Amino acid sequence: MSNKILVVDDKQMMRDSVGTTLQRAGYGVVVASDGNTALSMVAKHRPAAVITDLKMPEIDGLELLARLRQADDQLPVVLMTAYGSVNDAVAAMKKGAFDFIQKPFEGDQLVMVMRRAVEHSRLLRENAALRTVTAPQGDTPALVGKSLVMRQLAQQIHQIAGSNGTVMICGESGTGKEVVSRTIHAHSSRRDNVMLAVNCAALSSNLLESELFGHERGAFTGADQMRKGRFELADGGTLLLDEISEISPVLQAKLLRVLQEQSFERVGSSLTMQVDVRVIATTNRDLTAAVASGAFRQDLYYRLNVLPIVLPSLRLRTDDVPLLVEHFLLQLAMRDGREPKRFDDESIDLMKQYTWPGNVRELQNICERASVLSRGRVIKAGLIQPWLIAPEPTILIQPPGQPVTVPVPVHSRFAAPATMAVAPAPASTGNIRRLEEVEREQIVQTLGYFSGNRMRTAKALGIGVRTLGLKLKKWKEMNLVAQTI
Ligand SMILES: Nc1ncnc2c1ncn2[C@@H]1O[C@H](COP(=O)(O)OP(=O)(O)OP(=O)(O)O)[C@@H](O)[C@H]1O
Ligand SMILES: [Mg+2]
Repeated sequence: MSNKILVVDDKQMMRDSVGTTLQRAGYGVVVASDGNTALSMVAKHRPAAVITDLKMPEIDGLELLARLRQADDQLPVVLMTAYGSVNDAVAAMKKGAFDFIQKPFEGDQLVMVMRRAVEHSRLLRENAALRTVTAPQGDTPALVGKSLVMRQLAQQIHQIAGSNGTVMICGESGTGKEVVSRTIHAHSSRRDNVMLAVNCAALSSNLLESELFGHERGAFTGADQMRKGRFELADGGTLLLDEISEISPVLQAKLLRVLQEQSFERVGSSLTMQVDVRVIATTNRDLTAAVASGAFRQDLYYRLNVLPIVLPSLRLRTDDVPLLVEHFLLQLAMRDGREPKRFDDESIDLMKQYTWPGNVRELQNICERASVLSRGRVIKAGLIQPWLIAPEPTILIQPPGQPVTVPVPVHSRFAAPATMAVAPAPASTGNIRRLEEVEREQIVQTLGYFSGNRMRTAKALGIGVRTLGLKLKKWKEMNLVAQTI
C-alpha cells in the first residue's frame, strides 16, 4: 500500500518544511494548500495518512477532518494546532483525529507521529481485508445528512445504540434502513461481535425457519447436514430482520418466543438453545395496518416496536441532497482513483425538486451514472434531467404509435409528492424514439466504461441485469447495437 502522506497547509513555508522532513524520513509526500484541493488529492493519490493545519481560510482543519472521515473513516488525520491551545486539540480528537501535534515542533516529533499514523492505516486496512472474508457485512457505511430530521435521527441512534432493546425501523425503500441498522450495531457494546442480516421476504416460510433457527440432520427431506441458524450464529451480536411484515403466522409465533425468552430449538430438535441476540427489524409497510387486518400479530408488533425509528423519505429532506451528492461523488472518485466530479447548480436544483421514489439509493445511482457518463468534471443538468422525469421501463414497453403516459410515482401510505421536477412530456411517438435512443446511448457508453461487464453496468444504471440483457437482445435483433456487445 502507499506510503504517501498528504500535507495540507495554506502557508507554503510550512508545507515545504513538513514535506521535506517527511521525505527525508522516507515517505512519499503530496501537498495541498486548501481543503478542497486536499479532498481531490486524497481521491487521486490515496495517501496512507494526512497532516493538516487547523487554521485555514474557507475549509479549516476540523471541517476537512469531518469530510475526510465521511469519505473514508480509516484514513488517519493528524492536526497541527497552535502551541498551548488545549481546546483545539480536544476538539480535534473529539472529531476523530488520529492525533495532533502542537506548533512549533521538532522534525523527530513529526516523523514519530506520522510513522504511527501510517502504521495504523496499514493495520486497519489489513484488518478490513481479513474482515471482508470472515464477516461479509463489511464496514459500516457513513450516514450522511444535516437536515433537522437527520440530526434528530443521529441523536436517537446514539441513545438507542447505548441500550439493548429491540429496534423497529420503518421507511420507504432506499431510505437507509440498513445503514441505520449497521450504525446502531457499530456504536453498540456488541460492535466487536457479528451483525447478520436475513431478508424475510426472500425465502419461503420453511426455508426461513431453518435459516433463522437452523436444523438438525434429517429434519426434512434434503437436510443432509446439521445447520446452525442465524440466531445461533449471531449470539452476542445483532440480527437484522429485513422486511419483517412478510413472515408467516407460524414464524411470527416462534419469533415472539425468541424475543421474549431468547430461546428456541433447531428444526427437528427438542434441545432448547439460549442466545443473546439483539434484533433490529425493518419494514417498508405500515405494520399497524397489518396488525389491524390481522395479518401481523399484535403481541409481536409490540415486542418489536420497543425502540421505533421512522426514516423520512428523501423528498421530505431535500436539504440533504447537496451533501449526499458530494459524499457519493467523493466515494466514487476514491473508488476509481480519480478527481471527484461535481454537479452544476442547476442539477442540484433539479434534484432538490425531484420526488425520489427510490430515495437515497436512487440518488446514489444517479450520481454513479452521471459521473460515468459526463465527459467533463462538471455534470450538467441536461444530462440528468431525462432520468428525473419518469421511470424508464414504462416508456420503453409502449409499442410504437401508442400514446405515452408518464407515470407520477404513487406512494399510497405517504404524502403525495409536492412537485414534479419537469412536467410530463407530451404524448408522441417521436418522444419514445428519442428517449430510447438516449437510453441506448447511455447503456452502450456505460458498458464500454465497465469493459462490457453487465452486472456493474446494470448496477450503475439502476436497472436489473435481466432487464439490461433483454434490452441488448432486442437492440441486437434490430441491429441497433454492435453484435459483439
Ligand atoms: N443517510 C445516508 N447517507 C449515506 N448513504 C446512504 C444514506 N441513506 C442511504 N444510503 C445509501 O443508500 C443505499 C440504500 O440504503 P439502504 O440499503 O440502507 O436502504 P433500505 O432502506 O434498507 O432499502 P430497502 O428497503 O430497499 O432495503 C445504500 O447504498 C446506502 O449506503
Ligand atoms: Mg434494506
